[in-house]
Amino acid sequence: MIIEDMMPEIGEISIREKLLNCLNSNPKTLPCMLFYDKKGSELFEKITKLEEYYLPKVEIPLLISTAKKLNSEFKYCNLVELGSGDCSKISVLLNAVPKDIRQTIVYYPVDVSREAMEKSGHILQERFPEIDIHGINADFLEHIESIPENRKRFFCFFGSTIGNLTKVRTMEFMKHLGEVMNKNDRLFLGVDMVKDINVMERAYNDIMGITAEFNKNILRVANAHLGTDFDPNDFDHVAFFNEELSRIEMHLKAKKDLEVKSPLLKEKIIFKKGETIHTENSHKYTVDYIHKMADTADLCVSNIYSDDKKWFSLTEMVKR
Ligand code: AVJ
Repeated sequence: MIIEDMMPEIGEISIREKLLNCLNSNPKTLPCMLFYDKKGSELFEKITKLEEYYLPKVEIPLLISTAKKLNSEFKYCNLVELGSGDCSKISVLLNAVPKDIRQTIVYYPVDVSREAMEKSGHILQERFPEIDIHGINADFLEHIESIPENRKRFFCFFGSTIGNLTKVRTMEFMKHLGEVMNKNDRLFLGVDMVKDINVMERAYNDIMGITAEFNKNILRVANAHLGTDFDPNDFDHVAFFNEELSRIEMHLKAKKDLEVKSPLLKEKIIFKKGETIHTENSHKYTVDYIHKMADTADLCVSNIYSDDKKWFSLTEMVKR
């Protein structure tokens, strides 16, 4: 396994500046990438195992059945995974492909976290020694053009991670991806579909309160970067479906009037009781919207694989 570094040092200074801007804006926000420090990644893994959090339970069987259907089409491809994280999804997919085909694949995980990639890449390499792994440590929103064009490329973007982007960012990303893709390339896009509101809201308000803990952990991460004195106990976890924008929103709501200070700021950050910090959007999709995304990218939808209940979908797109 090799890892190529495309990340310009994201200076701590620019992170701080970004976070302070988010906290000083109105309404207050924090960027959802901040969730995934060590503790946050562990909490997210717990979330994926919750009864209420249906997403991986529907997506994983879908990845297996789709991989079995496509099978020999994986022969001699560059398999690119955007936001590869712990590589658990690709591992499931690869396991469903026969070994003689698997050994012709070069896998390109693309992820911002070099640490996660080193760890998960080695685990994957041990499980599938026959696969060439070429990690790319980069922000997939910016660096997808560096993926070698020597073979057909399968771009995979699983887990409804795209759902974290705003609609504007989503369309910009799709347009960029469409420009980067060549005639024989394909995109496999996994997204969570609009469904019964109760089912969606329950997935982000689990009884054990793990999602609440995950949401509040972002304040600890902010404290680590900014030296702020946020007390996570001063906030309530709030998650609901915003029907108009078709997304689950997560917020942290101040239980009382609060002041938060940071050695980096002259003035305190003031919260009125009930004021919120918007921490995440998780968009939910319709077939219509999937087609809009394809149109924007100048791609066409060649297949939509879905489960019986149509809760999750894996869309295949190709060049027009
Ligand atoms: C990893 C972005 C797909 O939006 O469902 C889980 C993150 N947030 N519970 C999602 C998340 C709260 C998750 N994604």
